[in-house]
Amino acid sequence: MKTKRMNPFKPTAGGEPPLLIGRNRVIRDFEKGLDNGVGAPGRIMLITGARGTGKTVMLTVLGDKARERGWEVLEETASSGLCERLVSELRTKEGLMDKLTIRPSVSFAGASVSLGEAELSPKRMPETLRKAMAARLDILEKRSSGLLISIDEAQAASMEDMIAIATAIQHQIRERRNIAIIFAGLPQMVSDLYNDEVITFLRRARLNVLSDVSLDEVRNAFSQTFADSQMTISDSQISVAADVTKGYPYMIQLVGYYIWDAADIRDSWVVTDEDVKNGIDEAHYDLDNAVCIPELQGLSKTDREYLEAMSQSDGPSATAEVARRMGKSAQYAATYRKRLLDAYVIRETERGEVDFAVPFLREYLRKKS
Ligand SMILES: Nc1ncnc2c1ncn2[C@@H]1O[C@H](COP(=O)(O)OP(=O)(O)OP(=O)(O)O)[C@@H](O)[C@H]1O
Ligand SMILES: [Mg+2]
Repeated sequence: MKTKRMNPFKPTAGGEPPLLIGRNRVIRDFEKGLDNGVGAPGRIMLITGARGTGKTVMLTVLGDKARERGWEVLEETASSGLCERLVSELRTKEGLMDKLTIRPSVSFAGASVSLGEAELSPKRMPETLRKAMAARLDILEKRSSGLLISIDEAQAASMEDMIAIATAIQHQIRERRNIAIIFAGLPQMVSDLYNDEVITFLRRARLNVLSDVSLDEVRNAFSQTFADSQMTISDSQISVAADVTKGYPYMIQLVGYYIWDAADIRDSWVVTDEDVKNGIDEAHYDLDNAVCIPELQGLSKTDREYLEAMSQSDGPSATAEVARRMGKSAQYAATYRKRLLDAYVIRETERGEVDFAVPFLREYLRKKS
């Protein structure tokens, strides 16, 4: 009997996939930003995309690129107290040690503690953060190193925190400091930031929208990943599996994982058509539970009726048509349209129609209706 090997697929939030598909351009863009020095465009980056498109994974990969270049990386997730956490991270570890050796008095350390409260008040936060960044950069730049700050789930950041961060970073850039920042979040993060101070700053950022990857690349990745793990799978099986994913990154990992697992349970190293079928069913089950069901949970009955009406179309739906299918007036339907747009369950297309913003929600609703 062969020794058991580990399933190579990673269907977990933020789990690094065995092969990162279709993201080379974003990575190159960011690397160029680091290598082209202060002021290069890739140094302020926004990454958006629906749930499960690979934003967190991108932050990890880009963080690694910065670390490879000897940069220090601060990785944060937006939630209340974001700026306080950034300030304390900037001040800890060797940063504080260096500061103490520059000004080695006990009273300095004591004073900084008692200053803490006022410094961290919302009003003073932009300045506090700016100073903390500058102090850390003083130390890093002496070692020819730089500072990357990455903020995940940025759509959840408060406006105060975003303004403080934008102000502080803008200042470092003006001072030609060796700094880079990446914000990753759901697409509404961009539209939510209608505030002058934040917007001016973000206008300079490189926006990368992570979308579905091409099925050709999915097939290649499946082929290579199965082969690398000694699991035999035919081209036609790979083709069936890849089509089901529609190029959605989370589904790619789920489908790969459960097909591999189905063969593994039988103690076999050859995938059968039955394994492919069972694997796909399992993948759908997980996808429904992890993505579709949570999205629907907070919605009202009528919100859901609106979505069900939309799901009758294979692609975007005209608003008037959705109202007609619901048997309601356009005005009535418009209320729900707005609610669903605000919740980012649906999005407006360029032609003014509406489409699902949550991957596989259309398929889920069709199955359940
Ligand atoms: N480029 C990619 N190629 C293949 N698989 C990927 C890719 N990017 C991400 N994945 C896989 O997709 C899944 C979701 O990734 P990740 O958690 O980074 O998404 P996310 O956009 O941060 O989601 P959320 O909005 O829920 O935080 C993981 O299982 C990950 O392994
Ligand atoms: Mg994430």
